[in-house]
Amino acid sequence: MFYPEELIEEVRIRNDIIEVVSSYVKLERKGRRYFGLCPFHNEKSPSFCIEPAKQFFYCFGCNKGGSVIQFIMGIEHLDFLEALKFLAERAGIDLPEPEDAGEKEKSRMRAQILEVNKEAARFFFSTLAGKNGARAQGYLIKRGLTEKTIRQFGLGLAPGGWNDLTKALLNKGAEKNLLLSSGLSIETKNGELVDRFRDRIIFPIFNIRGNIIGFGGRVIDGSQPKYMNSPDTPVYNKSRELYGLNYARQSKSRKLLIVEGYMDVISLHQAGIDYAVASLGTALTQSQAWILKKYAEEVIIAYDSDSAGQAATMRGLDILEKAGCNIRVLIIPDGKDPDDYIRNNGPEKFKNLVDRAISLLDYKIRAEKNMYSLDTVDDRLKLLNSIADILAAHDNSIERELYTKNYAEQYGISLESLNSEVQKRRNRKQSGNRTYSLNKNTTQTRGLPEFLSVDSRYGELEYMLLVMLCNDNRLFSKVSKEYNTGAYMDEGARKIAEKLYNRLEQNKNCVLAELLNVLDPKEASYMVRITEINSGLEDTDKAVQQILNKLEILKLEDLQKQTIERIKNEEDGIKRQELGLEFSKRAERIAELKRLT
Ligand code: GTP
Ligand code: MN
Repeated sequence: MFYPEELIEEVRIRNDIIEVVSSYVKLERKGRRYFGLCPFHNEKSPSFCIEPAKQFFYCFGCNKGGSVIQFIMGIEHLDFLEALKFLAERAGIDLPEPEDAGEKEKSRMRAQILEVNKEAARFFFSTLAGKNGARAQGYLIKRGLTEKTIRQFGLGLAPGGWNDLTKALLNKGAEKNLLLSSGLSIETKNGELVDRFRDRIIFPIFNIRGNIIGFGGRVIDGSQPKYMNSPDTPVYNKSRELYGLNYARQSKSRKLLIVEGYMDVISLHQAGIDYAVASLGTALTQSQAWILKKYAEEVIIAYDSDSAGQAATMRGLDILEKAGCNIRVLIIPDGKDPDDYIRNNGPEKFKNLVDRAISLLDYKIRAEKNMYSLDTVDDRLKLLNSIADILAAHDNSIERELYTKNYAEQYGISLESLNSEVQKRRNRKQSGNRTYSLNKNTTQTRGLPEFLSVDSRYGELEYMLLVMLCNDNRLFSKVSKEYNTGAYMDEGARKIAEKLYNRLEQNKNCVLAELLNVLDPKEASYMVRITEINSGLEDTDKAVQQILNKLEILKLEDLQKQTIERIKNEEDGIKRQELGLEFSKRAERIAELKRLT
């Protein structure tokens, strides 16, 4: 952490969570809490809530939670420091430049890479415009690109030599190290630098601020590999970027159209479909989906209609759905990609395809239908079942009803039987979800978070102990006596315990929201979730005692296991007897603890 904790805490306190969240989510007061539709997942009835007194948010639907800092991290897609800056600015607090030397060095390196990338892009651009660029220019023109488009996307050409760019950049004073860390050059076995991109058409990749963060390069002939991209660098992470987003985010339509390739994006923009973006030679990732959700009211997926493209569409749909996007699927006839289609049929025809893009449900069901022949009873039954599965998974009840009716007619299934199949599945799903509901007397949580490191049996209880301690600082003397920081088995919990114990020892109080300042979003969500589950607890002393007992039982039981092993391996009869005695004493203690708990 580069800022003193007091400063972080000041930023948090000066940003009232209700005020901050209100500018993203419509909140309504119900009793001591405010409720709204969760911005982190798709829902129709509010399960996102904030209790002003506690200054943290929690969603009962997706289990996300945290302080105002984690809220901004999530909704604005910022890392911790960026979120802190954002909130500091909002509250009029001046944050000093980061003191941390490592962080300073990193940000200097990032700025330098952006600078050298810009220099390289200029070099590629002028190579394309120069006398050696004629063939590449011819190629681009043959593919229908205008000069204006080439300029808008900053397309260029990497010359065919081994190190033309490297030499040019070294001459301009760039350091060898920078050329390597930007990915522009590669080091050969004997330590020489050569260009990564040679004899390729160059597509600079821009981030949303318009900086050049990396490059894609396409061969002009038919050689392999067709495309080559910059490696991940301090400024470029291919799983988080979307090609074309710098332009698409400015589009007036509140849509985004996801396509597969660089050329698709460029050709769509040229045709006036200025809301196209592409994931960069990888399957769509969850971070990309969050970004799409942030910039668009509706996301249309238009992958190639070959089978690889269709498989990618299905996977992409799941990811987009998880991010809560409104999704439609555009199907291009005849196995074409968007670029081919536009060149053969013109922009208007493509715009028609956009208008006719089908809903997520329709797409899924179409895909199912294609798997069955529909003229045997067996196949019809299978189709009915999968339609029911898909419908049951759809949460919007009005849409679900409409679609059920629609599909029943379309596939000649009786409405009653389809309805009852859907209902059966939904009932099953709901009873499976029941552990969700908050139960005051239980300390059980559903599903273990993956970050619980050492041993989740301990981690769960230890996090709970920490939450209770935050809620009621009075418990500290008892807890610290029975369970000191060294006793924590889960690494994450121990780190938090060290912070918390430290403050409480100095007689400073500590509320959960403050502790969240130093946690990553996953840990924060988890702790808030535990708090919510325990919020109705009346006798906290008793609850804490129970957790301490359970922890003691766990530790004793682990010792018992070790003792059994030792007894097995012990040859000395007397020692074996001693171990046996130890074992039975401990067994008594365990039994006693279990009675109390
Ligand atoms: P054109 O053939 O020029 O129309 O390009 P395209 O964009 O239509 O290419 P395609 O549909 O074959 O591939 C889609 C995207 O996948 C490309 O834009 C690249 O980002 C990526 N890609 C394709 N081939 C390769 C490859 O050989 N290596 C890498 N790393 N990425 C590739
Ligand atoms: Mn193509």
